[in-house]
Amino acid sequence: MPANKKLLVLPGDGIGPEVMREVRHVIEWMDRRRSVTFEIEEDLVGGAAIDVRGMPITPDTIARARAADAVLFGSVGGPQWDNLGFDKRPEIAILALRRELGLFANLRPAIVLDPLVEASTLKPDVVRGLDIMIVRESTGGIYFGEPRGVETLADGQQRGFNTEVYTTHEIQRVARVAFELARKRQGRVCSVEKANVMESGLLWRQVVTALGAAEYPDVSLSHMYADNCAMQLVRNPRQFDVVVTGNLFGDILSDLASMLTGSLGMLPSATLGQADSSGRRHALYEPIHGSAPDIAGKGIANPLAQMLSFAMLLRYSFAMEEDAALIERACTNVLASGLRTADIMAPGMAKVGTQVMGEAVLRELDKLAA
Ligand code: IPM
Ligand code: MG
Repeated sequence: MPANKKLLVLPGDGIGPEVMREVRHVIEWMDRRRSVTFEIEEDLVGGAAIDVRGMPITPDTIARARAADAVLFGSVGGPQWDNLGFDKRPEIAILALRRELGLFANLRPAIVLDPLVEASTLKPDVVRGLDIMIVRESTGGIYFGEPRGVETLADGQQRGFNTEVYTTHEIQRVARVAFELARKRQGRVCSVEKANVMESGLLWRQVVTALGAAEYPDVSLSHMYADNCAMQLVRNPRQFDVVVTGNLFGDILSDLASMLTGSLGMLPSATLGQADSSGRRHALYEPIHGSAPDIAGKGIANPLAQMLSFAMLLRYSFAMEEDAALIERACTNVLASGLRTADIMAPGMAKVGTQVMGEAVLRELDKLAA
C-alpha cells in the first residue's frame, strides 16, 4: 500500500461543511476500496475561524496547509461577517492560502455534462459538449500589487488605488501551465489581457508570444482582449480550449464561463503552486460556488462540485487518473439516472437533497468498482 497521503480539509462556512460531509464519505470509500489511504486533518477557516479565533485564518492553519500534500477547501463568507474590517473578512482566508503557498495557477474548468445541457440559459446547440479550461493567475496582478490603499488628499477627498503588476517570471510560469494543459487537450491556448490600454497587458502578450514560439510551437496560440473574450464566451464558447489570463480578468471570466454551464454547483477548481525538483507541489482544490448562505443548513446544496474538486485533487496532486475518472463517472451516471439537487432541477427529474445525492454517488462508485 502506498504511503499515506496527507490532506488538510477546510470546510469553511455556509454550505461548505454540508457538502464536505458527503466528500468525506467518498474519501472513506476510497480508503476501503482502493489501494490508497488518506490521513486527514480538518481545520477552521473563514467566518467559522473568525467566530472562534478572531481571524479568518491562523498562521498555524497556514503551516498545516503547507505541510499537507493537498488542501481540500470548501467555501467562506456570509452576511454576518460582511461588516468586519477589510483585512478581517472571511475571504482573506483563501487569498492568504494562495499567497502563502504560492498557488499561482488557478485551473477553472467549465464543462457541460450531457445530462445537464438544458440547465444552461444559453441554447443547447451553443453549449453542448462545452469543455473550456480557464487558467487564471492567482498570486499576482491587481489583487496583490503595491502600492495599494486609500489616502486622503489635501482638499479632503479620498483616493483609492490598486496596482496591476506582472513580471516576466509570473507570466511565464502561468503560461507554461496553460501550454502544458493544452497539449493534453485540443492543443489551443487563447491568452487574454488588455494590451490595447495596459502596459502590463502588453508585456503579458509579448511574454506569452515569445514563450509559445520558443517552447510550445506545437500549441496554437491566439490573443484576445478581455472585453472581447467576455463577448465571445457568450457568443460562441466552444471556440475556446484553454484560456490563460491574469488574476482580475480571470476572476470575472471564470464566473462568466461557469454560468455557461448553468450549474455553478457542478464546477470544481484547482489552484497549483510550482513543482519542486521531486515533482511535489502545493495545491488547493475548491468548488467554484461560494458559501451560498441563503441555502446553508437546509440540506439542499449540491455536493457534486466538492466531490469533483476531490477528483481534481486525485488527478493533479497524486496522478491518480483512474480514481479521478471513477468519481467523475459516478457523478455523471447519477445525473443521467435522473437525480437532481434544487440548483439543477429540471422537469421530469427527481429532486433530492445533499445527503441523498451523496449516497447515490457512493452506490454508483460501488457499482463501477464491482
Ligand atoms: C474566487 C473568489 C475570490 C476571488 C474571493 C472570494 C476573494 O471570487 O475565487 O473567484 O476574487 O479570487
Ligand atoms: Mg470569483
